[in-house]
Amino acid sequence: MKAAVLPAFDAPIETRDDVEIAPPGPGEVRIKVMASGVCHSDLSVQNGTIPLPTPIVLGHEGSGIVEEIGEGVTRLAVGDHVVLSFVPACGECYTCTHGQPYICEKSAAQAAGGLLDMTTRLTSGGAPLHQMACLGTYGQYAIVPEISAVKIDDDVPFEVAALIGCGVLTGVGAALNTAEIRPGDTVAVIGCGGVGLNVIQGAKIAGATKIIAVDMFESKLEMAREFGATDTVKADEGDPVSAVAALAGGRGADVTFEVIGLGPTIEQAINTTRPGGQVILVGVPRMDVMVNLNAAFTWLYLAKSIKGCWYGSSDVYRDVPKLLDLWKKGELNLEGLISKEITVDQVNEAFADMQAGTVARSVIRHQH
Ligand code: APR
Ligand code: ZN
Ligand code: ZN
Repeated sequence: MKAAVLPAFDAPIETRDDVEIAPPGPGEVRIKVMASGVCHSDLSVQNGTIPLPTPIVLGHEGSGIVEEIGEGVTRLAVGDHVVLSFVPACGECYTCTHGQPYICEKSAAQAAGGLLDMTTRLTSGGAPLHQMACLGTYGQYAIVPEISAVKIDDDVPFEVAALIGCGVLTGVGAALNTAEIRPGDTVAVIGCGGVGLNVIQGAKIAGATKIIAVDMFESKLEMAREFGATDTVKADEGDPVSAVAALAGGRGADVTFEVIGLGPTIEQAINTTRPGGQVILVGVPRMDVMVNLNAAFTWLYLAKSIKGCWYGSSDVYRDVPKLLDLWKKGELNLEGLISKEITVDQVNEAFADMQAGTVARSVIRHQH
């Protein structure tokens, strides 16, 4: 089969067509991958922000059709259309049974670049090929754990379903699950890429009446307005913290989301939040990013809460159908996130477009 492969840290993506795929093991399913979004976290594996073993098939935002099921699979059947979840959710471990399936204990295995038993089902040129997030949606096919796929209705277009898998669950989830947004709140969103735009539309659904979008690119601020931002701040013109504060009644936002993953913008997010407000950290930083905070002021005198947000604090079995319902009712704009449809050979260009700020999302349509 054909797959876009990251051969080594910092190397360009190569399209290989010699990839061999093993049959699904117990508790695994074979997916015909139909569509995959190109997310910043894929680029973050290439540049070492998210360290994973190479060579690896990237891609963690996908949808497809179940083609074969392994021994003991009960949740899924051949022919099911699915959204792939970049965090497996077993439903049985300590965190899953304590309302936090987005950090399912089984997902710790992902750091090894394989499936739940830490081995991969892919080889290329006779050597093992790793799979990002137990998935690898830049491949035409993938063997994934049964607990990494959520059945959806057959009438949902695959490119829409793919985006749910990361950007929409993460961004909308950050606003609806992680944060406590009250109707009438002022919200600031720092970073308006594929994920940040979803935070913006989630904040609107939650009832925020002022949504301040902050980004380096005018093109992204325009998209932000389409997704519900009421005000925009160009991050490289003056001090974004005072610009947000001025727009937020001089006191700062009730809730600020950081959706980039840089130390300086995390600090900005804390400083643009009003006393007593919430800071929600969504962007994935490099492993060595440290934040220096004044403990007395940040947490005590100013009583701010700083909350980490992994996968939008989602329960994929609850939230995938919920988000699709919102989309069917016209409350979530998913088509508008798709700036470009591409083939699997165009991932390098998609990474360049993402960095140039010209796309919300590029979506790979696999040819079979
Ligand atoms: N100030 C303001 N905006 C910035 C800055 C900055 N210093 N640096 C980057 N940005 C903006 C970019 O212009 C871009 O619009 O942040 C946005 C990031 O968007 P994408 O590259 O599309 O990334 P996305 O896929 O949305 O992911 C955002 O969430 O899931 C994580 O790993 C992912 O950390 C990443 C984050
Ligand atoms: Zn992602
Ligand atoms: Zn679990």
